[in-house]
Amino acid sequence: MIYKALISTFFVFGWSAVVSAETSPAPQQAAIAMPDEFSAKVAKQVLLEGGNAVDAAVAAGFVLAVTYPEAGNLGGGGFMTLFNTASAGEPASASFLDYREKAPKAAYKNLYLDQQGEVIPYRSLVGYQASGVPGTVKGFWEAHQKFGSKPWASLLQPAITYAEQGFIVSEHLQKTAEWYRHWIANKSPVELNFNAHFSGLKAGTLFKQTALAKTLKRIALQGEKDFYQGKTATLLVDEMQAHDGLITLQDLADYQAIWRDPIVGEWLGRQIVSAPPPSSGGIAIVQLLKMKALLQPALESALQKAKQTGLPERAVKAHFYAELEKRVYADRAFYLGDSDFVRVPIEVLISDDYLLKRSQSVSLEAITESESMQPGKIESPETTHFSIIDSAGNAVSNTYTLNMPFGSGVVISGAGFLMNDEMDDFSTKPGVANVFGVVGGKANEISPEKRMLSSMSPTLVLKDGEIEMVVGTPGGSTIITSVFQALVNVVEEGMTAQQAVDAPRVHHQLLPKNLIAYNPELSDAVKDELSLMGYQLKKNNYMGDVQLILKQAGQVSAASDVRGRGISEVFTVP
Ligand code: DON
Repeated sequence: MIYKALISTFFVFGWSAVVSAETSPAPQQAAIAMPDEFSAKVAKQVLLEGGNAVDAAVAAGFVLAVTYPEAGNLGGGGFMTLFNTASAGEPASASFLDYREKAPKAAYKNLYLDQQGEVIPYRSLVGYQASGVPGTVKGFWEAHQKFGSKPWASLLQPAITYAEQGFIVSEHLQKTAEWYRHWIANKSPVELNFNAHFSGLKAGTLFKQTALAKTLKRIALQGEKDFYQGKTATLLVDEMQAHDGLITLQDLADYQAIWRDPIVGEWLGRQIVSAPPPSSGGIAIVQLLKMKALLQPALESALQKAKQTGLPERAVKAHFYAELEKRVYADRAFYLGDSDFVRVPIEVLISDDYLLKRSQSVSLEAITESESMQPGKIESPETTHFSIIDSAGNAVSNTYTLNMPFGSGVVISGAGFLMNDEMDDFSTKPGVANVFGVVGGKANEISPEKRMLSSMSPTLVLKDGEIEMVVGTPGGSTIITSVFQALVNVVEEGMTAQQAVDAPRVHHQLLPKNLIAYNPELSDAVKDELSLMGYQLKKNNYMGDVQLILKQAGQVSAASDVRGRGISEVFTVP
């Protein structure tokens, strides 16, 4: 990938943008970890034809808008974390692109409250007022403008073909669509057109989307202008305004994707590069990793004791993680929001001093009650993810979403794509949880043109100036803890890529009180021990779909979560 200077490389908090001044010999292996077979095929093909990681990401991103309609999207938004190897005299660097949705200009703080000040159920989740201004098309356009090497239109062709000629629907997709159809029934005061467009999602049959194919063709020819100022913009606004939606032509014309400084944290001789606000992910993951490292001696002695008394190691770890997560989600609820609107004390929140103080009250023996958990004191002031490494060592970690699977249930008539329901990620009322059960306060209240707080965490791990890992996942508020556990599984537990993504995960997020969610494979012994300690337990069949690429000692491996329909592959580019 050709490095085009002056991107928003990061100089975040003590870590320099310059990863390595030397150009290492170009490795030949490329790798992909993608959420479905169609995006995997296309990403591989683009890389084999000499495209770079961003080319492959753009092509796959548009394909997923066709073949993974519950989360791949045109009507949503996301984040992309990128790594460019040194080239043409430029040092290696990482960068971050924010193409998160924004609140429409007509949005306001109490948008989803009734006259008594109570939250109107599902208004921020289903239907015409649930959507933020979409960012995906602008995001892919920006990434391609800066780093792409293949013609834009050629990268959209595979998506156009799948939309026009159809693709074979998987059982997984049919089941998700059935679940969603059932879930939205009776949740909107006006009829939604989801069923009219997506009732044909039947496993084993061909599904064609002709209106979407036309939209993709316009975007291929006219670029992002079609979506934000052209025919697609008009179709989108017509649909919204015919049903009391909020998005206007001005909202679309003013939408910008933004290059931001990624969060960078040092951990066990590596740099963790991840998503800054408006995501909470990067800060939260660095907080978890650093507190874990600070408390490692205490953890080890608890593990030793458990061994002597026959307690399962995993139960000790699950409790330990829950204690760290309580502190992190309390900070998230209080401090985090769109940093273009509120001051987020990033430096302090990920500093060693702050985290040392924050971790001092962690007990390996007892549960810290959720009610007593305050944010730390600061003295100064159905998503989908894919990971790609090209044969030159450049990387893209991309997470994007409509929020719920299939978003708001609204399809833009004549344009054939679903709209997001990302407005639910704002704090609709202080202390009232969103669909993922997380609460927020002033920092994440609704404001015109503000971006809603996210947990999406496309993450890179750099070691000795090169990519060691590219990782991310969907899963709402569980994204943070899934990425955290995947990193720990590889770096500290020595697992392979596949073991690391398939290992059962646990999740705690401060509220509901003392609740640990777990993947079904967690053993009964661990569950019994956690119950004895006083935890409530909740089996969660779906807790992420991690896509991970690992490069260690020159060996590349890639893994897609066993729980999803993803495909990963390592291959040589001639
Ligand atoms: O930005 C966020 O954190 C959420 N809107 C992500 C939603 C998500 O991961 C849904 N996937 N299962």
